[in-house]
Amino acid sequence: MQKLVIEGGSPLRGEIRISGAKNAALPILCATLLSRETLHVENVPHLKDVTTMLGLLAQMGVGITLDSSQCVALSGREIPNPVAPYELVKTMRASILVLGPLLARTGRASVSLPGGCAIGLRPVDLHIKGLQAMGAEIEVENGYIKASASKLHGARICMDLVSVTGTENLMMAATLASGVTVIENAAREPEVVDLANCLTAMGAKISGAGSDTIEIEGVDELHGARHRVMPDRIESGTFLVAAAASLGKIKLHGARADILDAVLDKLSESGAHISTGEESIFLEMRDRPKSVSIRTAPYPAFPTDMQAQFMVLNSVAEGSALITETIFENRFMHVQELCRMGAHIEVEGNAAMVRGKEHLGGATVMATDLRASASLVIAGLVARGETTIERIYHIDRGYECIEEKLAQLGAKIRRMA
Ligand code: UD1
Repeated sequence: MQKLVIEGGSPLRGEIRISGAKNAALPILCATLLSRETLHVENVPHLKDVTTMLGLLAQMGVGITLDSSQCVALSGREIPNPVAPYELVKTMRASILVLGPLLARTGRASVSLPGGCAIGLRPVDLHIKGLQAMGAEIEVENGYIKASASKLHGARICMDLVSVTGTENLMMAATLASGVTVIENAAREPEVVDLANCLTAMGAKISGAGSDTIEIEGVDELHGARHRVMPDRIESGTFLVAAAASLGKIKLHGARADILDAVLDKLSESGAHISTGEESIFLEMRDRPKSVSIRTAPYPAFPTDMQAQFMVLNSVAEGSALITETIFENRFMHVQELCRMGAHIEVEGNAAMVRGKEHLGGATVMATDLRASASLVIAGLVARGETTIERIYHIDRGYECIEEKLAQLGAKIRRMA
């Protein structure tokens, strides 16, 4: 199993390009299921989760070609096998995103239940309830969600909780339903807006994406389109935190500052100097960072996907901070590993009190999920001595060329078999 070995202590300095957003690319690739025509998706990041999604779509019958670097052409003229098998779904929960489009296009879908997940229970009841409100018959049989509908119809759906993929699934299904669907308490994440833009380019009638009420007027069919995936705000935030924690100076190209307000505000509060351009973000941290308390919540509040990285920043900051996780019930698994590197963190329920220390020390640690892995990489970059991160496959699910990008910024990092 591959490992990352990091020799800590070098401040990150230099410039890198931010990749396309994983969490936008995954639903957008699924949107191809809604049309017989070809969808060209540009700026698709080269990631394990993307490869898994392409594999899932291919086995359903979608033709896939890479028509230039990072541009994928998908063609679902027929969808002979509307099935998402357990073997693929178990490795990537976002596979649930095929359910809505499959049902809307083919009238049937069989999608394995994602099951438990390292960061919490993560049920899919909201996806199921929403589709039922649109007229789908759904049963859970042998671990599979078996759904059918001769024709979905519009409905008024109020989501009990804000769910990102739940909103995306229902929005996709509603594009081909008869009549108007209104999704209330919808997720406002920028990735939902990116998906809505792609669907609109395919001929869908959607208004309100980015607000908590999305209205979709169903159409008879969607056509082909070309769409460029938005930049990854979590990758951007991760590199910014790594630069801040290592007292570095970096510039991100192809990044969007307008969708990172909560993260940039916290970085400024911790003492970072930040300036932003239309497609760039510059950050410099001249002195030891100051602790910043955070509370995760749906967009536009502070993202749960940046919580672990800020835990590391606070671990080496001046003062103490409280980190409250309100989205997932088991998202502090990085804490134990960080403590093994000398961090001072106490967890009670969904809150962690972090007391900053001057230094962390290198150690052998284990990655437990995607964003936890990112936090361990940052910890390794700022720790004294050598850090070995095991089970690094988690990081390849969501960060494109992470060690190449970090090496470009001066980090001493290598991958070992
Ligand atoms: C998406 C992101 C993930 C991010 C998360 C929260 C993708 C591919 N993944 O995950 O990176 O961490 O949003 O910003 O976009 N819930 C239910 N029932 C449901 C659905 C969700 O109870 O049917 C709960 C979840 O357990 C969780 C909360 O709602 O507590 C939010 O989850 P959700 O927004 O659905 O997360 P994902 O869409 O899976």
